[in-house]
Amino acid sequence: MWDALWTDIDIATCATADGYGRIDDGAIAVKDGQIAWIGPRSALPGPEEGLAAVRYSGERNWVTPALIDCHTHLVYGGQRAGEFEKRLAGASYAEISRAGGGIRATVAATRAASEADLLRSALRRLAPLVAEGVTVIEIKSGYGLDLDTELKMLRVARAIEREAPVEVITTFLGAHAVPPEFDGDADDYIDFVCDEVLPGAVEQGLVDQVDAFCETIAFSPEQVARVFEAARLFNLPVKLHAEQLSDYGGAELAAEAGALSADHLEYLSPVGVRAMARAGTVAVLLPGAFFTLNETRRPPVDRLREAGVPIALATDSNPGSSPVTSLLTAMNMGCVLFGLTPQEALAGVTRNAARALGIGDRRGTLEVGKAADFVIWDIEEPAELAYRIGFNPCVDVIRAGVPTLVA
Ligand code: NIG
Ligand code: FE
Repeated sequence: MWDALWTDIDIATCATADGYGRIDDGAIAVKDGQIAWIGPRSALPGPEEGLAAVRYSGERNWVTPALIDCHTHLVYGGQRAGEFEKRLAGASYAEISRAGGGIRATVAATRAASEADLLRSALRRLAPLVAEGVTVIEIKSGYGLDLDTELKMLRVARAIEREAPVEVITTFLGAHAVPPEFDGDADDYIDFVCDEVLPGAVEQGLVDQVDAFCETIAFSPEQVARVFEAARLFNLPVKLHAEQLSDYGGAELAAEAGALSADHLEYLSPVGVRAMARAGTVAVLLPGAFFTLNETRRPPVDRLREAGVPIALATDSNPGSSPVTSLLTAMNMGCVLFGLTPQEALAGVTRNAARALGIGDRRGTLEVGKAADFVIWDIEEPAELAYRIGFNPCVDVIRAGVPTLVA
């Protein structure tokens, strides 16, 4: 006997590499928080009345896997609307960063913020994502850049998992920018990150994976390689902000380190694409940052496709380059700005987002044995998810087999 059974649904399982993995007039059975059975309703093994303790009708709506936002900087203090105004008046993101604004401005605000305030503001930004069916979110540190504040950010990220209906994957991003107290000493700062901050955060159980920002305004491939080596000593998976503003060889470095993902990638070279394909490194595209910074150089989507590199999409939610708190909007931007198909956009926030977080074995597709996290959408076809802007057709989010919005 199953715990629950859903019928009267059309399903996009996202379980196949191409296509939605469509099941018309399907059924999903749940047991102990996992999918116990999925298929066409007509193939259910017996009369429906006797199959499950509770039965739900999906009322002819669509079901997809719950969404996964695999790249965010959701926890931070303050906001940077003033920089938005400066960019509108002609300043570039890199210029503002070199003049001491950008990430450093948020570092000052995050250091000054209390843990309670950081939690409160992050939960407010999380709410619209949860309402869109996000049940897993990755959250990075990187606005502390000292031991205390990096730990504070990561504790807040962990607290979010207790306060909201999401699984949080924490990412240590100590190598996000050089803080003012290390001005001109990026190498010393990397020593500090590797020898003190990362070990301190790991000791407190706050780190699931490690990231860095490889860019001319941030850290060189050599410096990133040292961060990756420190991560390896703790057996932590790595990923990288790479090729966002220039071709710096970051994606190749990440692929060679066996990174789960390389993220941004507007300037990714053909060599980088091949290295990622060989390593199985996921390309995480962040159209919110591309849009916000009014960039013109698009990531090489055709090459990534041809090479078979899995493509994920995320909000990159952060106060500077991507003040975005809608994954559905990121899907729309992925299609309109980067030329993804709506089917690729959906795979990018489910199946491939799970891979980018190393949790593809238990999440991201609707298959027997995986988490019973799925969303019920009031739509006529799955492409609608990427098509609208500013409209949320989510009618219910099922988490570990339990309806959370409409009981
Ligand atoms: O992913 N690229 C580096 N980090 C963030 C932006 C951080 C910020 O501007 O505050 C990003 O775009
Ligand atoms: Fe980012």
